[in-house]
Amino acid sequence: MNVFTSIKDVKEPEALVALALKVKNNPGVFGSYGKLKTLGLVFFNPSLRTRLSTQKAALNLGMQVVILNINSDSWILEMEDGAIMNGNAQEHIREAAAVLSQYCDIIGVRTFAQFNSRAEDYGEFILQKFIRFSSVPILSLESATLHPLQSLADWMTITEQQRTERPKVVLSWAPHPKILPQAVANSFVEWMRIAHVDLTVTFPKEIDLAPSYLKGISVTHNQEKAMENADFVYAKNWSSFSNYGKGTSSFQDWKIDERKMALTHNAYFMHCLPVRRNVVVSDGVLDSDHSLVLEQANNRTYAAQAVLLKMLGYEG
Ligand code: CP
Repeated sequence: MNVFTSIKDVKEPEALVALALKVKNNPGVFGSYGKLKTLGLVFFNPSLRTRLSTQKAALNLGMQVVILNINSDSWILEMEDGAIMNGNAQEHIREAAAVLSQYCDIIGVRTFAQFNSRAEDYGEFILQKFIRFSSVPILSLESATLHPLQSLADWMTITEQQRTERPKVVLSWAPHPKILPQAVANSFVEWMRIAHVDLTVTFPKEIDLAPSYLKGISVTHNQEKAMENADFVYAKNWSSFSNYGKGTSSFQDWKIDERKMALTHNAYFMHCLPVRRNVVVSDGVLDSDHSLVLEQANNRTYAAQAVLLKMLGYEG
């Protein structure tokens, strides 16, 4: 696997989930597969889980890890082709990506939506520059519009916990004080579309997702109706696709709480973290024995380990 930016880069998604679960069962099983290989992790944005779980995954494979925080440790990067670099930017992505490729066998990149332009974000402007100017495989650590490592870990978590052959999974919008990207939601829909689940997505109609992601998916703007008989409730905030880059302080009543969870089929609660307590979800739900947020976070390591194995050329 030469790039991992979306489920579209994965030939056999179900086999990848199976590999991640196998690795979880015995994390040291491929302990020298990445010997003398180096993973570079490049962060344009903060991260706790992605940073540490991907680092741990690489170490479990015997890889070395180097980390570059662009906004604090590095030169300011110029991304535009043909730029006359007489402003703040000190280094062009052409050299930066090419030089990183001299040190690394795989480069992971974390970059959020910039919200300057929907076309630029949905064209994955920064990630595509890394793909173009690097000579080694590129691993998305969350991009402007997708978070595939999170979705792989989420699929693992649902597989481990499901009580029926085809569980009802509800992705629900939830409130948040900041303007957040659509990446986790887009990605979750993209991966759950392939999984054997009955997926419903619910959000206030003003805070939509890209129609291309929702094509053929059950959508309702009635959150409580959506939650009826759910086996899994995945809460996530995102900002509107249509009204791009605009936030809202409305819909605070979309918070997930015990009363709403009581509508479900004793559902598990999921969230990718970090989460705003008592804004997105009540303490009672988050701290309940039906909250899977730590299981999701734990599975991030094995999801990354399976993807790194594939990027290193593992054929099994
Ligand atoms: N869920 C997730 O990607 O967390 P971080 O932003 O902390 O990496």
